[in-house]
Amino acid sequence: MITIGKGIFHLSGDAFSYIFRVLPEGYLQHLYYGRRLSGYIDSEDLFPPHARSFSPNFPGSSDNRYSLDTLACEFPVFGTGDFREGAFLAERRDGSRVVDFRYEGYEILSQKSRPDGMPGYRGGETLSVRLKDTLSGCILTLYYTVYEKEGAIVRRAELLNGGEMLRLLRLMSFCVDFPAQEYDVIALSGAYAMERSPVRMHAEQGIFRISSARCASSHAHSPFLALAERDATEETGQVFGFSLVYSGSFVLRTERDALGSVRVTGGINDSEFCWTLQGGEKFCTPEMAIVFSDKGIGSMSRAFHDLIRGELLPLNRQDTPVVLNSWEACGFSFDPQSLSELIHGAAELGAECFVLDDGWFSKRSSDRSSLGDWVANTEKLGGGLDSLARLCRKNGLRFGLWVEPEMISRDSELYRCHPEWCVHCKGLAYIESRNQLVLDLVNPEVREYIKSCMDKLFSSAEISYVKWDMNRNVTEALSYALPEERRAEYSHRYVLALYELLEYFTEKYPQIFFLGCSGGGGRYDAGMLYYFPVQWASDNTDAADRCHIQYGGSYVYPLCTSDNHVSSCPNLSTGRTTPLKTRADVASLGGFGLELDPKRLSQQEREELHGYIARQKKLRKLVADGDVYRLKDPFSGNEFCMEVVSKDRKRVYAVWVNMLAPANPPQPRLRFRGLDSEKAYRVEETGKIYGGDVLMNAGLPLPLPYGDFISGTFTLSATERREKYD
Ligand code: DGJ
Repeated sequence: MITIGKGIFHLSGDAFSYIFRVLPEGYLQHLYYGRRLSGYIDSEDLFPPHARSFSPNFPGSSDNRYSLDTLACEFPVFGTGDFREGAFLAERRDGSRVVDFRYEGYEILSQKSRPDGMPGYRGGETLSVRLKDTLSGCILTLYYTVYEKEGAIVRRAELLNGGEMLRLLRLMSFCVDFPAQEYDVIALSGAYAMERSPVRMHAEQGIFRISSARCASSHAHSPFLALAERDATEETGQVFGFSLVYSGSFVLRTERDALGSVRVTGGINDSEFCWTLQGGEKFCTPEMAIVFSDKGIGSMSRAFHDLIRGELLPLNRQDTPVVLNSWEACGFSFDPQSLSELIHGAAELGAECFVLDDGWFSKRSSDRSSLGDWVANTEKLGGGLDSLARLCRKNGLRFGLWVEPEMISRDSELYRCHPEWCVHCKGLAYIESRNQLVLDLVNPEVREYIKSCMDKLFSSAEISYVKWDMNRNVTEALSYALPEERRAEYSHRYVLALYELLEYFTEKYPQIFFLGCSGGGGRYDAGMLYYFPVQWASDNTDAADRCHIQYGGSYVYPLCTSDNHVSSCPNLSTGRTTPLKTRADVASLGGFGLELDPKRLSQQEREELHGYIARQKKLRKLVADGDVYRLKDPFSGNEFCMEVVSKDRKRVYAVWVNMLAPANPPQPRLRFRGLDSEKAYRVEETGKIYGGDVLMNAGLPLPLPYGDFISGTFTLSATERREKYD
């Protein structure tokens, strides 16, 4: 709900309020963000201004109690007294960077719009607040869309240059100034093959930032941050979560100032950002989703899951098919015989789709060649893609294909014809990564080439599944297709060009299931999820590591967005051997697939796997749509457990893993959460029935671990509560 009165804007949901006001001078003062308040605040009483040494007055004012240095600001800028990190920075022709935005007016829009050329949440009622820079004439519009049930606000900013040309150096998507208090900052950090580990630290005085400068959100940081009360836990305490809808170079910052308040800002990374804005031109930031929870980190995650599933993922999204992907089965080395065996093996196990990964085109038999030449290698395939697709169909399987459209190999026909199409810097030797270069997507000719190649593939060979990969990051970020004064705009323009392609393909081929991938989870962000609702979570398929990767990812992203495959042991990334059951149980918490050669399995393993695939088909709706509870944290102990509860609380599925087996361990126990204490539940694995309250409070004893990396699943369904269980 959005209510406005006496210059006070009150955005509220079922359980939160977000309030700011317009000061008489026209500055926006942030007043409150937290648990829902019944009415407005008489802010003069509740937020007494104080004179502070070295905090300058408002421009032209003699009242030293008000200063932009100490004000909680809704959108802070440079040059008029706020010495903290601002949300806006621009340079005018005369070199001046001072701006002075004052309130102009507001509108309530019945429909939410998306930022131009970028992904965004669906949504309704939206507040737009207009500010005008008294110096340059620029108009800054701040957008707020409220999601009452989810407890979320989606924000973004837009700058319209109403005056002379300027260079925009920073425009954040949002800012929230929190009152002086002790906070922790939580981020999801990691590396290639070890993505999204939650890290938590005290917000000390000074600046903490996570960012990417790679033109991709990166393996190192997810574009997410949370600010939590210091004693907030998984189940208790206030937590504010911030998730950016952007797939390129981003930044999220917290700054604790000298008086203890904490500012959170985020958006496009401004470290090398520069955008020329001529008079009359507009610049839009990506969206930032903000979630408030007063029931801990778990409830923040469930709010993000509801928001992302309900308002961001494509409306027509399909169930994730159970695939067999060829990558870990055979890499680049396959022939018609081995492909046909893989397809038969996949069908026998009950898979629904066969995905041919890298190595199927031109003369590609290693990562050294052929990116850009998207023509089937008929020798390796034993015919065209059509014949492979037919073979899949005959075996009752869909057919899927791996592509990496953003890249070019030096050893390719495409490079020989168009050496100028790769991203490069004249005078500097080319910078390769994984033996490949990046195509200059900003050049419209390149985008047309990609469209025509992929159109041929996507429309000709009954392809109903596409894995879109990106295996290196962008260096030499500039394009000679841009006029000189716009070359520095490259990083953001790359992302806009990518979004244009993704929009084109997803709209044109709604029947295709698109899986996003960037060497695993190197571009697993809310921006990509808008187009590709499932991401290959990591190249690391080791079940023990996956417990960590999937646990961290669930802080923001719903389980249905994570693709998880059962692979062979010893694991390719870690050399570790884990039981097949554990690999399947961990993979079942999301999109489920296989990354192995069935003919190398024993008959017993094949039967077991057949069972897990059948189980997955029954469970996948629950896993995709249910509420997630993280019951045991593998980062702080030896156990992992995640539980999914259906929205009507009638079906429950939990996966538990014990990492290393200690000798003579204490009795491990699983206390469920989110059940209905009035109901009784039948545990499918044992046939026993317990009251919901018993399961949540007394809990179930877990097997005493014997052997490393053992797992267990608990599949519960609500049943009539009978007297003896009460
Ligand atoms: C990186 C991906 O993450 C892998 O799954 C695989 O598709 C390879 N690229 C292929 O080159």
